[in-house]
Amino acid sequence: MTRSIVLLLAVVTSVAGKAAPKKDDDELQLVQVLIRHGDRAATDQFATEKSGEVLFRGLGELSDDGIDHAFAQGKQFRDRYVDDLKFIDGRYIPSEVRFRASPVSRVLMSAGAFSTGLFGNTPKGHPVIPPIYTKDYADDSLLATAFDCTNGWDDIVKALNLSSSENVASTSLAAMENVMWPDTCKGVPSTKVDAIIAELPNKLIDMPKEYNKCAKDPAKRFMYEYIALLGGAGIHYNEERLNRTVGMLTDELLTNMDKKAACSLNSTCDMGSSEKFRVYYAHDVNVLALAHVFKTIDMFEGMTPAFSSALIFELWKKKDGHHVKVFLKNGQDAEFKESGFSKEYSTLEAVKTVGSKYAINEKMQCNH
Ligand SMILES: *[C@@H]1O[C@H](CO)[C@@H](O)[C@H](O)[C@H]1NC(C)=O
Ligand SMILES: *[C@@H]1O[C@H](CO)[C@@H](O)[C@H](O)[C@H]1NC(C)=O
Ligand SMILES: *[C@@H]1O[C@H](CO)[C@@H](O)[C@H](O)[C@H]1NC(C)=O
Repeated sequence: MTRSIVLLLAVVTSVAGKAAPKKDDDELQLVQVLIRHGDRAATDQFATEKSGEVLFRGLGELSDDGIDHAFAQGKQFRDRYVDDLKFIDGRYIPSEVRFRASPVSRVLMSAGAFSTGLFGNTPKGHPVIPPIYTKDYADDSLLATAFDCTNGWDDIVKALNLSSSENVASTSLAAMENVMWPDTCKGVPSTKVDAIIAELPNKLIDMPKEYNKCAKDPAKRFMYEYIALLGGAGIHYNEERLNRTVGMLTDELLTNMDKKAACSLNSTCDMGSSEKFRVYYAHDVNVLALAHVFKTIDMFEGMTPAFSSALIFELWKKKDGHHVKVFLKNGQDAEFKESGFSKEYSTLEAVKTVGSKYAINEKMQCNH
């Protein structure tokens, strides 16, 4: 009896604490997260003969590690946004939260696993899983990049001497493997590049020493360059590909921030009328390209984004107006690290100016 009264008091206090204005008056109003799926098998092949037993869901599919790590990432978001900042309700309230994922099994599964870490369980111990919205691949220009378009590749066709602008997403990788495979990876077939990176963190898979050595660093640098190429980011900067990869998402993120900010300055607007925690689940290329748009790509230090890597945009209302903080949390083992960008361009207006360079509200033209 006494115990439940104490518990009840604790709940009442925490609700009151949530409603009361914080000492410094800064108020978090919107959180938007772009996150990569968890650990998966490579899409083309396994690194070792035995890998298929551990990665039993098949090529390109989420592994058990991927589920555990997406859960762990969700748990750390719970620590920050449910427990520390008391920003969302850990029991899941549909009007507060929206999940949107690209229509690929590993991404949808990761979103589910992340949400079970974020929301915990029902009193009977069952996980709370919110709806995860998606679209057909061909219709999802928000998160599912149309790599099969033949336009937007001229720079790559030229630089890699490709024979046509068809299937560049795969012919460019093959060309890179032929001409740019690092010397330090000599003992490793270059076609295994994705497989060794994918399987390196998996403790159940025993890769040869030279695979491990290559995967740790040189292969991740190689893959960073390929992912940058696909998304038109970094040293392969290309406005058309960048727009195609994250133009619509950039527009949506900015519009969401704008609407929240406007609503909070309008006494007749209901702040609960649109979600305040939005998670966009997608792929490495989306994360890297969006990091380019918001001048945060350097934080990857030339290495391909980790599984479950997340870019986070927080909209804060301060005394002098609205500010945006950008964080990278590069995998479930990494910290929330604030980007230098958000220190330099902290106001919402400045962030909008930077982002609007690539923001589009209509699907890009795609030739076949
Ligand atoms: C480019 O491709 C053409 C035709 O396939 C070939 O003759 C030429 O040597 C290649 N050049 C380079 C720099 O690889
Ligand atoms: C990319 O998007 C921006 C912003 O909408 C636009 O001004 C620019 O023309 C687009 N570039 C290409 C190549 O489509
Ligand atoms: C304030 O919000 C109300 C309700 O959403 C809306 O009808 C009105 O146009 C807004 N006013 C301004 C100045 O944005």
